[in-house]
Amino acid sequence: MRSSRIPGFYNKSLAERLAQTASSAELTPEDLSPWTTGGLTPEAADHMIENVIGLHSLPLGIGLNFMINGRDVLVPMAVEEPSVVAGASFMAKLARGGGGFFTTSSQPLMIGQMQVLDLDDVYSARLKILEHKDELLAAADEIDPVLKKFGGGARDLEVRIIHESPIGPFLVVHLIYDVRDAMGANAVNTACEKLSPTIAQITGGRVHLRILSNLADRRITRARCIIPLAELAFDDFSGERVRDGIIEAYAFAASDPYRAATHNKGIMNGVDAVVIATGNDWRAIEAGAHAYASRSGRYTSLSSWQKDKDGNLTGTLEMPMAIGIVGGATKVHPAARAAIQLMGIKTATELAEVIVAVGLAQNLAALRALATEGIQRGHMSLHARQVAIAAGASGELVEKVAAQMVAEKTVRSDRAEEIIKKMKSG
Ligand code: MEV
Repeated sequence: MRSSRIPGFYNKSLAERLAQTASSAELTPEDLSPWTTGGLTPEAADHMIENVIGLHSLPLGIGLNFMINGRDVLVPMAVEEPSVVAGASFMAKLARGGGGFFTTSSQPLMIGQMQVLDLDDVYSARLKILEHKDELLAAADEIDPVLKKFGGGARDLEVRIIHESPIGPFLVVHLIYDVRDAMGANAVNTACEKLSPTIAQITGGRVHLRILSNLADRRITRARCIIPLAELAFDDFSGERVRDGIIEAYAFAASDPYRAATHNKGIMNGVDAVVIATGNDWRAIEAGAHAYASRSGRYTSLSSWQKDKDGNLTGTLEMPMAIGIVGGATKVHPAARAAIQLMGIKTATELAEVIVAVGLAQNLAALRALATEGIQRGHMSLHARQVAIAAGASGELVEKVAAQMVAEKTVRSDRAEEIIKKMKSG
């Protein structure tokens, strides 16, 4: 990657943007051609899910300006909501002044759960399983030879007692599995299914559910950034006012679940856009994120915003990131493959770190707008264009109709129709 900074990108044609994206990543436009059609054929889709009758598309935009651990990355983002790509790109530009985003990750450990029922004594059953831990782990380790070859495999076994439930006490066995570059659901589910007869035999109980947990709290990715105070100032807003406003906005999310849900939704605007662009399971990421946000027993913000001793704004984000770059749609979907190629991603951990950096940038974009001029101003012109198109405008008319609605501060389809009629008639 030469650079993730492409001045004037917004004003170029679609074909120019594609060509420039390719050349900045030292690729050819053909490498990125899946994005000109969406990448998937109905025939390929027919092999992915059931009852296929067609395809469903989303816009694919490029998140610009991202520097992550000193490396520039152009980030593909699939999302239907205006302002998301622009917001992330703008905040990534501000973050560059503080060195960009700094990221780290835990090992890619997923948790598989086995529910053990019909036990006379859950305490003794728990210890019996732990007495066989080494042999259970050795058996689980042999289950996926491909993962093992790449350095993955079974890492630990834990047994939890659920003391109270609608059916009384039972045991839950957690198999901790290093899934390397896979999302890991298949490997973990297979391992749990294969281990469960032995666990039933050891305990004399019945193993009921065998499935991974989406609360992937052993597979955590973290991102932080420093936004120099000077970068925060704009129009009549001083850097201090913007910074303190962002910290106050964070305090709201940190202490109120009603606000935290919306705050975290803003993070997920960025996270999901990259998760979807790379063919990953965004429901798994959503489930993990919100469960993790509740880990203290009270739902709260996934990110934090503070100031450092020099008065700069500092942000952090830490969340589970169960994504893969091998298997499933990540490999089958040509557009997902182009996404991985564009970012020069070699491991699932690298991808996880890009995703969390984008989530942090997206969160900042929302908080900066909310803490200053409000969210509607930025949203309005893009929203106005969508309304103009939906009302029948095309070509140059889109911008004209949108501009008039923004000037009138009235973005409504009936008004768009009136303006279109008027402009067409003279
Ligand atoms: C809208 O999609 C996301 C925001 O509501 C996030 C937030 O409020 O922080 C703007």
